[in-house]
Amino acid sequence: MCGIVAYVGHRDACPIILKGLKRLEYRGYDSAGIALMNGDLSVYKRKGKVSDLEEFIVDKDVHGHIGMGHTRWATHGEPNDVNAHPHYSSSKRIAIIHNGIIENYAALKTLLLEKGHTFQSETDSEVFINLIEDIQQNSKCSLPEAVRLALHEVVGAYAIVVLSKEDQNTLIAARKGSPLVVGIGEGEYFLASDATPIIEYTNDVVYVNDFELVVIRDGELEIRTKEDVVQTPYVQRLEMALESIEKGGYPHFMLKEIFEQPRSILDSMRGRMIAESNHLMMGGIREFENKFVNAERILIVACGTSWHAGLVAEYLIEDLARIPVEVEYASEFRYRNPIISERDIVIAISQSGETADTLAALELAKSKGATIFGICNVVGSSIARATDAGAYTHAGPEIGVASTKAFTAQVTVLSLIAMIIGSKRGTLETTKLHQLMVELESIPAKVERALLLDVQIQEISATFKDATNFLYLGRGYNFPVALEGALKLKEISYIHAEGYPAAEMKHGPIALIDEHMPVVVIATKDSSYEKIVSNIQEVKARKGRIIAIVTEGDTTIPAMADYVIEIPETSEHLVPLLSVIPLQLLSYHIAVMRGCNVDQPRNLAKSVTVE
Ligand code: F6R
Repeated sequence: MCGIVAYVGHRDACPIILKGLKRLEYRGYDSAGIALMNGDLSVYKRKGKVSDLEEFIVDKDVHGHIGMGHTRWATHGEPNDVNAHPHYSSSKRIAIIHNGIIENYAALKTLLLEKGHTFQSETDSEVFINLIEDIQQNSKCSLPEAVRLALHEVVGAYAIVVLSKEDQNTLIAARKGSPLVVGIGEGEYFLASDATPIIEYTNDVVYVNDFELVVIRDGELEIRTKEDVVQTPYVQRLEMALESIEKGGYPHFMLKEIFEQPRSILDSMRGRMIAESNHLMMGGIREFENKFVNAERILIVACGTSWHAGLVAEYLIEDLARIPVEVEYASEFRYRNPIISERDIVIAISQSGETADTLAALELAKSKGATIFGICNVVGSSIARATDAGAYTHAGPEIGVASTKAFTAQVTVLSLIAMIIGSKRGTLETTKLHQLMVELESIPAKVERALLLDVQIQEISATFKDATNFLYLGRGYNFPVALEGALKLKEISYIHAEGYPAAEMKHGPIALIDEHMPVVVIATKDSSYEKIVSNIQEVKARKGRIIAIVTEGDTTIPAMADYVIEIPETSEHLVPLLSVIPLQLLSYHIAVMRGCNVDQPRNLAKSVTVE
């Protein structure tokens, strides 16, 4: 995690860096800092948000045309002023900002202490900058060369920027495992963890690759590998609108992103299907169509909400394409010595495309010969680049830490994949395929209708905002939705919530049910409808308070439930795209009513680039 920004050019660096840090705050927000060169190398840093840093520097001289900033998600050392970045070396001649983890920092620190280096913080990043200083002192080389040599000594992940007081015109950066983008403007350069701090100024970017060193000096950009081989920068033009990374009148990014879903779902299917002519196309799959069609097994690796989308895909692919699917937590899979063969297809799902565990899981599968397909939202992200093929979800930037529109976009893309493979394998007959495509086309309009439930959901939220526990129950396609609803509630409102398969409840969680327990039951009209009606009776018999998500026009469940939320009817294959909407809104309103910071919940960060 952590966000990094740096600037060199004709403008004042500080406002650009602070604005960039605010855009990157979703990556971490426990402390923030900035370093500026104006004859000296000045560092200002503070525990708390970027706004706390802004307050702190209000009366300081923060002018300069070159500088760097950092917003932190703590790994080594608690969030405080000292552990905040940037970090000076012992001599205070050079300073670093760092996103990632240096795994061998303890051994390096011992060596550096023996050599007389001193440390102020508990961070691994301060070890990194002292290592660079030590190498420069001992080999009497240039600073870029010392950084390059240091890359051979550190084990772990990093995106770093280094500044030296003795070289007032140079930005040095490097990357391995943590993202780093260079923005190229007119006589100015930007460095950032993603493109959001950059696109206001330029759309021309270079994605730095692992083990590359970037030196921007006197208006020139040079990239070389850790092995000292000069690289030709590959400049890409980004199509990202500035409005897409702003709140656009909504009080929170999360609410904006929930309401964007009719559009984002449409964008994720755009150009990939024409229902009228039963035409499905997905560039990424075409090349590997035979592999998909003949796959003996599909493995899905992901974390969190993306894992829930993967679980929906398990139901979809097994049902429509009749290929066995296993959905794996990337963090478990990578350490389990899993059995993977060349006939397996591994689908890695990730909104950010930077989740360390997902990346490591796909690398492991790749090393064993499996074909890797990626489903990512962030264009040019590490996972997107590490896969053999893939499909972007095109949901647009998701900035609220709690994932919403990314989930529905992932499910949309996965539905298309299941349909493509099913039709190619002959397991999905043409009439059924056509019905599904027509239904999928109607989903954005139905999501629009589901969003009209907002007012009713606010009322329900007011009733339950002080609850201490919630249970979410679903069956079939709605089971992953129950998990997702519970995750949304706990991460932003800090209310304990559990998602369960409704029938599994009687094997334990039923003991929790009494008149104080709100139970959200997702009980739309589908093949398990009768069964879930029985499960609702079981809750009711124990006086649980039932909030039921039902299909419009249902009369049976409303007679049993305490609160009823009606969503439009759809095929059960696609129902997660609708049934998740009220759950997103419920968690949002409860969190707002409890006074929680929904866009930046405590302890979390948007992209988890540590193991
Ligand atoms: C939940 C949430 C997380 C992410 C998880 C994976 O709202 O946002 O659970 O889904 O950290 O992130 P990505 O999809 O970026 O790999």
